[in-house]
Amino acid sequence: MRRSVALGCGAYLPERRMTNDDIARIVDTDDQWIVERTGIRERRIAAVGERTSDLATRAAEAALAAAGIGASDLDLIVLATATPDDTFPATATKVQAALGMRRGAAFDVQAVCSGFVYALAVADSMLRCGQAATALVIGAETFSRILDWTDRSTCVLFGDGAGALVLGVGEGQGDKRDRGVLSSHLHSDGRYHDLLYVDGGPSSGAAVGHLRMAGRDVFKHAVTNLSAVVEEALTANGLVLDEVDWLVPHQANRRILDSTARKIGIPAEKVIVTVDRHANTSAASIPLALAAGVADGRIQRGHLLLLEAMGGGFTWGANLLRW
Ligand code: UT7
Repeated sequence: MRRSVALGCGAYLPERRMTNDDIARIVDTDDQWIVERTGIRERRIAAVGERTSDLATRAAEAALAAAGIGASDLDLIVLATATPDDTFPATATKVQAALGMRRGAAFDVQAVCSGFVYALAVADSMLRCGQAATALVIGAETFSRILDWTDRSTCVLFGDGAGALVLGVGEGQGDKRDRGVLSSHLHSDGRYHDLLYVDGGPSSGAAVGHLRMAGRDVFKHAVTNLSAVVEEALTANGLVLDEVDWLVPHQANRRILDSTARKIGIPAEKVIVTVDRHANTSAASIPLALAAGVADGRIQRGHLLLLEAMGGGFTWGANLLRW
């Protein structure tokens, strides 16, 4: 059975660190509230003029180097972002040009914080059905650009960054022992638009506005939906939670990570956590966490990874991936 196998991953974070104390100089908040309610201690902020495609390109270069291949070997780029450089063309095509990739296809996927899970599902489908043999899947965001820096309930939560994963094609037996993407499970429910959105945008006739969120409502849905999709992914593959080596979740809030882990019954030591250093980087948070786990040696070849995310839309989903 044709499988999409991970060849290497990489990450890029902007240089500028913004601590909770830095934010407390802008809005009425403090380090204690932010740490207790979210687990966030600092986030990175893109420099003036540094765009989503710049972060994505740096992460892509690191992933290609880890995979030991060049951009000319790629057939496909799928880039997940809710903060594209421009309304069009796709930020993926800017990354394609910056990498020097002159063939194949490049496009964006928009599923906000679930973007990487969606993009990985799309790339995996294209690889398995033979439309591409090598793919670059990127999650990249500059959420600092769409935050309302006068709203303390949202501006403390997000950061900028990018992560990337190179996939190739391998052969498996078609069962849970195979290396590669075992399955993806995607969901959305558009009725919840108003709980998390950015106002404005091309067809509304208004310039792109700011992120608006009903945090407490999103929190409740997140724990319920994430627990359900984890169960769905395990059941679909005849797996039990004990067989999962690492949960690599979207990093929205430490309390969401802990509540979801408790609800599904995975020990905290098996959860990769970066929210303290990166805050919520939307579509970039999973590949950033993946790259952190690989870089520090926790994630090893053959390990079973469970990726899960929930975001605006609502969208949510999971991928099972044997590294
Ligand atoms: O990526 C996927 C999408 N996003 C998420 O998954 C985020 C989901 N939601 C959350 O993470 C949490 O709901 C938040 C971190 C956003 C908020 O935590 P909470 O425990 O739900 O707090 P709350 O919104 O219920 O606010 C509690 C209090 C309020 O004051 P009162 O009304 O109790 O007097 C807020 O005004 O905390 C106040 N507050 C703050 N205080 C200091 C809100 N933001 C801040 C702040 N600093 N930054």
